[in-house]
Amino acid sequence: MGVIGLLTAGGDCPGLNAVIRGVVGRADERGEEVLGILNGWEGLIKDSTMRLDRDKVRGILGRGGTMLGTSRMDPYVHGDGLASCDGTLSRNGIDRIIVIGGDGTLRSAMRLAGEGLKVIGVPKTIDNDICGTDITFGFETAVQIATEAIDRLATTAEAHNRVIIVEVMGRTKGWIATHAGIAGGADYVLIPEIPYDIDHVVEVLRSRHRSGHRYSIVVVAEGIDPPPGYEAGEIKKDAFGFDRLGGVGFSVAAAIEERTKFETRVSVLGHIQRGGTPVASDRVRALRLGVAAADFAIEGLTNVMVGIRGTKTVPVPLEEATSGIRGVPDDLYETAQTFFG
Ligand code: F6P
Repeated sequence: MGVIGLLTAGGDCPGLNAVIRGVVGRADERGEEVLGILNGWEGLIKDSTMRLDRDKVRGILGRGGTMLGTSRMDPYVHGDGLASCDGTLSRNGIDRIIVIGGDGTLRSAMRLAGEGLKVIGVPKTIDNDICGTDITFGFETAVQIATEAIDRLATTAEAHNRVIIVEVMGRTKGWIATHAGIAGGADYVLIPEIPYDIDHVVEVLRSRHRSGHRYSIVVVAEGIDPPPGYEAGEIKKDAFGFDRLGGVGFSVAAAIEERTKFETRVSVLGHIQRGGTPVASDRVRALRLGVAAADFAIEGLTNVMVGIRGTKTVPVPLEEATSGIRGVPDDLYETAQTFFG
């Protein structure tokens, strides 16, 4: 039996180290060897690896980031797919790989599986928008950080009678915005999958201020469109060709301030939501995903991702996992809406 390769690709996410610990611990228990591949797909193309054993994964559960490093490199965008990885696989005796990554990474994993490599995916994103799983690890940590930020921003907003726009991550879906908005008691929440009317936002804020509350918190996901007539600012591209988001909150603030004359400020939380220690539930979730990924790899499964369904970890075809992007259900958004203003 060959070696199991393990890599983390794409943006980081709190809990990556717990997944690594889960994979290595379970593989070790079952007498299998794991080779860490450094800096995502780049390490698989350039043969950059490290041996992993139980000792190497001690003390990492609470650490953010990833001990293996990550990158936005991709075997199909920056190489010829499996042919670019063959050298590393054969030199190291790797016959299966476990890939921890988001939508783009899982798509590349599926293509490698189609070319004959045994691949298990582990879904990773703070955005919580991957299909085929109830939740992704790192999401609850991001929501906790965003909620604490809202709590803090609310007190300074109140002290100054201001509107504060809190911009959170969420490229195409507004999971973090909706959860943190509910948990932080936001007065409005704007998410990419639900079109909004800036005049309605303004009306809700005016009515709140008329009834004696002279400050407001509006949570926006970074992926919303700016209000009509406003620009989102200059959008740069990342290595995958995706827009590098961040800053749309300023256009929402400008539209609100111009209409209401309420003094308005913006706080863009950005990568603070991805850094630092994962909350306990994310550590447990991530570790369980790693354990299941090792089991699936050892049992010979391929072209599947480890999904969470209820309290169970289950194999989900990568085709299903990459079939779309999972949005916030209407009833969840409506719960946030009930408390607007
Ligand atoms: O997909 C996860 C995510 O955190 C998005 O919410 C965000 O738009 C993106 O990654 C940021 O990526 P980067 O770290 O490359 O700027």
